[in-house]
Amino acid sequence: MADEDPPLASGGTSPAPAFGEKTLQEIEELRTKYPTARGALLPTLWLAQRDFGQVTPEVMELVADTLGVPACQALTAATFYTLYQRDKPPEHKLQLCTNISCMLYGAYDLLHFLEDALGIKAGQYTEDGRIYLEEVECLASCGTAPTMQVGDRYVESLTQESALALLQEIGVSV
Ligand code: FES
Repeated sequence: MADEDPPLASGGTSPAPAFGEKTLQEIEELRTKYPTARGALLPTLWLAQRDFGQVTPEVMELVADTLGVPACQALTAATFYTLYQRDKPPEHKLQLCTNISCMLYGAYDLLHFLEDALGIKAGQYTEDGRIYLEEVECLASCGTAPTMQVGDRYVESLTQESALALLQEIGVSV
């Protein structure tokens, strides 16, 4: 960890996460593609999420230590971008864009429709913890607004009908 950098993790009893040999090699390769260690931060956080399932404060610290950057840089990146999962990953994560193009095409009506169907508000998990609904900024698919990301998949030109079909597909009885 860089000097003067306060710890991100609270220091629990579970063992600190560690990268395996293969991931360390991948990080090493990534490092050669960027002029600075900081440049490799986002893809390294992505590798960490792949390995550990979520980017906890301990994982952020590991990433920062591995790259030799201040922990606050890992924290800033991991908390700014919605592609990093900081909580226990749900089975299905629904990320609905409500930025300008999607908003103009009815994203808020869709958000309220999803909230009603799931019985939760944006930013919450369903009671069984399987589904997490999130309102996010532009997903870079404005031409097919409104857009929702479900895990790694984009659902474009979303309507109440297609949202309903999607909910049924992931096992929600509506
Ligand atoms: S505004 Fe929704 S994808 Fe760009």
